[in-house]
Amino acid sequence: MKIVALTAGRRNANCEIFTIEALNAAKELGAEVEMIRMLDLEIHSCAVCWPCPVIMKGAEHCIYKDDAAWLYNKLFDADGFLLAAPCYSLTPPGQLIAIRDRIMGPRVDIACNWKMKQMVKNDLTDKFGDMEIDDRIFRRKVGAMISVGGATTEHWVSLCLASMQTLMFPAQFNVCDQMNVTGVAEDGAATLFPELIEQARQLGRNMVKSFEVDVPYELNDAIDHKKPYYGPEGYCPMCHQNLMMFYPDSDKVSCAICGIDGKVSVEDGKVKFTFTEEAMSHSRHLFQGLKDHDDEVFEVAKALKDKLPLLPENRKAYKPLEKEFLIKPPSKQPKQA
Ligand SMILES: Cc1cc2nc3c(=O)[nH]c(=O)nc-3n(C[C@H](O)[C@H](O)[C@H](O)COP(=O)(O)O)c2cc1C
Repeated sequence: MKIVALTAGRRNANCEIFTIEALNAAKELGAEVEMIRMLDLEIHSCAVCWPCPVIMKGAEHCIYKDDAAWLYNKLFDADGFLLAAPCYSLTPPGQLIAIRDRIMGPRVDIACNWKMKQMVKNDLTDKFGDMEIDDRIFRRKVGAMISVGGATTEHWVSLCLASMQTLMFPAQFNVCDQMNVTGVAEDGAATLFPELIEQARQLGRNMVKSFEVDVPYELNDAIDHKKPYYGPEGYCPMCHQNLMMFYPDSDKVSCAICGIDGKVSVEDGKVKFTFTEEAMSHSRHLFQGLKDHDDEVFEVAKALKDKLPLLPENRKAYKPLEKEFLIKPPSKQPKQA
């Protein structure tokens, strides 16, 4: 098994310490391991070209020739992806989100790519022409996440693991363990918490253990079972986190991360969430949940199809105001002689 870790914190600091411990424990079980430091990467944010050359032809064909294609190949040649990130203002650092939008997210969404593959195979489209779909994204892989926050209150790290999941589910790196570290702020303070160090080592071992379990997985028949999860439990039975959406005047809840709908109640003064098997089968941690979204986006496009010819004319109205309002930063000013 090969594990690639991406660390998004300071050099030699807490995220890296936990990551090194996890990788070393996985290595002791025979895994081949590598660590990539986000601060070493030059990755431009996505310009959202359409059609996207990354989807059509692969990461090397992006308009930006930076480290994104290299990182993409590292991640998709691996069997396991360990992501460690510090919490900055409740979320992981912005550069990680920029990386997601360049090479992860919809570009590697297995449902979207599977659908395009079927269309190309069955000659249902000339739009995608000689498109090349990277079969590596369909392989069943494992993921693990470590979030590190300096605060001791959980609501100060509320969106960190949740946001990190958005790099995991599109290409189905099945998260098998996760750590939500709080109260570790000083550079290197991780070393002062032996129980957290051991938790990181166990996370590394769990990646190997989870990867070694064979699960039925065949997209054509939508047989889709996640690799086993060994981490801490949460209210959501699919992503094992606690970030729920509530709807006014209703007992309906949705997991904000994996999108499953359920019901909330209070029993003996304790909050309880109930999710049916049917609802769980539509989690975005499974092919079906991603496909639901792909279908909904397709419907949105279909509903507007007849009106698309109006857009060039409609957009013209914005040009004069754009000219009036838009200012350019110094880097985009004409060079002085
Ligand atoms: C810009 C910035 C914002 C931060 N915001 C939060 C926060 O919202 N919640 C939190 O728990 N810690 C916050 N922290 C603390 C870091 O998460 C903490 O120091 C962590 O150990 C950094 O990881 P590292 O040691 O791997 O760099 C913030 C730190 C910085 C630099």
